[in-house]
Amino acid sequence: MDYKVKDLSLADFGRKEIEIAEKEMPGLMALRKKHGEEAPLRGAKIMGSLHMTVQTAVLIETLTALGADVRWASCNIYSTQDHAAAAIAKSGVPVFAWKGETLEEYWWCTEQALNFGEGKGPDLIVDDGGDATMMIHKGVEAEKKPAILEQDYSEEGEDFRELMALLNKHYSEGSDRWQKVAEGIKGVSEETTTGVHRLYQMLDRKELLFPAINVNDSVTKSKFDNLYGCRESLADGIKRATDVMVAGKTVVVCGFGDVGKGCAQSMRGFGARVLVTEIDPICGLQAAMEGYEVTTVEAAVKEADIFVTATGNRDVITVEHMGQMKDMAIVCNIGHFDNEIQVEKLENLPGIEEINIKPQVDQFTFSDGHSIVLLSRGRLVNLGNATGHPSFVMSNSFTNQTLAQLDLWQNDFEIGVYTLSKKLDEEVARLHLGKLGVTLTELTPEQASYIGVTPEGPFKPEHYRY
Ligand code: NAI
Repeated sequence: MDYKVKDLSLADFGRKEIEIAEKEMPGLMALRKKHGEEAPLRGAKIMGSLHMTVQTAVLIETLTALGADVRWASCNIYSTQDHAAAAIAKSGVPVFAWKGETLEEYWWCTEQALNFGEGKGPDLIVDDGGDATMMIHKGVEAEKKPAILEQDYSEEGEDFRELMALLNKHYSEGSDRWQKVAEGIKGVSEETTTGVHRLYQMLDRKELLFPAINVNDSVTKSKFDNLYGCRESLADGIKRATDVMVAGKTVVVCGFGDVGKGCAQSMRGFGARVLVTEIDPICGLQAAMEGYEVTTVEAAVKEADIFVTATGNRDVITVEHMGQMKDMAIVCNIGHFDNEIQVEKLENLPGIEEINIKPQVDQFTFSDGHSIVLLSRGRLVNLGNATGHPSFVMSNSFTNQTLAQLDLWQNDFEIGVYTLSKKLDEEVARLHLGKLGVTLTELTPEQASYIGVTPEGPFKPEHYRY
């Protein structure tokens, strides 16, 4: 049995939702139509580490329709939709994912998805947050310097400690398994801001072992999924978790990048008073010009009802902050990793009492008697407490992912981090216009020449910021 999911009997439900999602994912369906027959990914072994949702199922089935041999794991312990995973397992694609994995199980699943038989790795990776890439890099490092397995990682967070524990458990002297896996990889396409940061850091340190495509910074990804996706799925997560009335409440959004902009707009749309925190003067000014109050967590901590972190940074909401919050303040994170909120410190705070309200909703009571409600234990609220972004916006992201996989498979890249061309970016957008009934104006040859483009595009220079 080459899969592990919660309940295979959910497969028919999963299949029905996948069929509905297909109707909302025109970009992926267009790629199937365009390339299905020639199967350009035939022979490619693709491993995915990306939230195992209904939308991801449509991505997986696009990759298999293009000929790939796929294995999959989720990139978060709470983000799997068990019916989607069941449908994928039933279709014969090995998938290792269920909602509510332990961290030990999480890394086990990642390793299973990376194993194409006898420890052999994939040709290509679809990564979200960089965990599959990190597992391979740390595996290689451990084979070359086994001493790193014995190091003290107490400052690093539980996710990382569990990865190192697993590598340690499976380590055998003289093994070159991970080095062979790394050598075999033609490339990785990375979905999110945080994963892309990791890639550029590894490239700068000359540690990156294979080429990467930064899918996040396609305009049709970060300016759509991060922004409009979170604009819908943040509220979905908060409401499914708490049923709280947002109107009239004070909401603090930490970080006013693409995700923060969507979150702030969402909460304002419900009638909340929205405060924003930022470190970057440009983003802080943008928030102010949008009419948000820009302040600090310290200044806002006693008056806010809901706190949302969207920074991709660590320790943004500390245990001291939570100690000063209003009774029953809601605390959640929509950034990629849970270290934006000091959850581990909260769990270990002397005198703290914890009550589980329901899955992914926990109440923590401090010794002074006030409580806070923590969603998804600080992990992505929109995927932990709801079902992530809607299909249509994910079609934009995943069309970029599929194009990136095709590019990596069909071409030989030097080690580096690349973005897709503006021509492809515009093509992704174009594939989604029909569904929304958009009619574009066509340039006349005179207009095209006046603004210095061709009538078919690309329509903007590389430095244009949208
Ligand atoms: P971004 O880089 O556009 O925005 C992050 C913002 O946070 C920046 O403007 C930065 O100046 C600010 N920031 C950094 N440290 C801060 C601090 N200590 N206090 C206040 N502000 C701070 O990144 P983006 O694309 O908005 O992504 C944010 C996070 O969300 C990343 O971890 C990303 O991977 C994740 N993400 C999550 C999604 C979801 O569905 N939950 C979807 C897309 C991205």
